Amino acid sequence: MGSDRLFVTDCINEVNNRLEKLFDEREIEPKLYEAMWYSVSAGGKRVRPVLSILANRLVGGEMEEALDMACAIELIHTYSLIHDDLPALDNDRLRRGKLTNHIVFGEAFAILAGDGLLNMAFEVMLDNALRHRENLENHVLAMDYVAKAAGVSGMISGQTADILNEDVDEENIDINIVDKIHINKTGKLFAAALCAGAIIGKSTREEVLAVETFGRKIGLAFQITDDILDVTGTETSLGKSVGKDVEAKKMTFPHVYGLDNSIKIADDLIKEAKDALQIFGSKAKDLIMLADYLIKRTN
Ligand code: IPE
Ligand code: IPE
Ligand code: MG
Ligand code: MG
Ligand code: MG
Repeated sequence: MGSDRLFVTDCINEVNNRLEKLFDEREIEPKLYEAMWYSVSAGGKRVRPVLSILANRLVGGEMEEALDMACAIELIHTYSLIHDDLPALDNDRLRRGKLTNHIVFGEAFAILAGDGLLNMAFEVMLDNALRHRENLENHVLAMDYVAKAAGVSGMISGQTADILNEDVDEENIDINIVDKIHINKTGKLFAAALCAGAIIGKSTREEVLAVETFGRKIGLAFQITDDILDVTGTETSLGKSVGKDVEAKKMTFPHVYGLDNSIKIADDLIKEAKDALQIFGSKAKDLIMLADYLIKRTN
């Protein structure tokens, strides 16, 4: 267990160092650079890139080839947070323990910083693919997973449904929608991070399907836990405001199912997720350790 934890810490350091290098390599207008780097360097748990690297390692891939894909996914995630916090969406003032991007740089630069990060993610993935031409088809397939998960059938669709379902009266709650929102806005990018890592590592079809199921389930459990922490957590440990979902009458799991049921649902999902990794045997132990952490976390 100790060495697994150490490997996760190593992954986070690798991702942070590589992100810095990817920024330094580019010519970015100074104001835009400042706004983009402000949110990327603010930290965050780096869960998605770590998952991607772990899935790659699980199937015998090389960190050198998987790292840029992992960084690109973190760039997409960070852009989604900047836009999620905008006044027109969740209107938040605090993120990753710091003032939100639009509070510091203004709305125009926050929008542009988000746009910049999303586009940069695709540059990074494409450059990486071109550096690994012997494995080009797998890189294209991995990018396809990521593009779809982040796009109109994934995260954007989830964010749209999240906004459309604010302020819904109790009698009009449709419980099927809450699942869909969470899978789309969070579950699919988790799954894509894992699938992309595995595919670049030349996984079999069975292995991709296994990590995809694992990813969707832990991603859903992760978003349920995020909703729970919005009720039970503190601003200090989360580094973001709490109580905002109730205020906006968001269609969250605690809102629809209550707090205790939501905890149980997240717990069951983690059990099912771990079952999906049975084909890997003990090689999956670091992913399993991470899955347990995702619902026990306080940050
Ligand atoms: C926050 O994601 C948004 C959700 C999908 C719940 P994270 O909790 O992974 O945020 P960071 O990256 O650690 O800041
Ligand atoms: C955001 O969900 C999910 C994204 C795709 C960005 P939330 O709105 O619940 O995330 P937080 O609580 O602001 O981090
Ligand atoms: Mg939101
Ligand atoms: Mg939000
Ligand atoms: Mg939230």
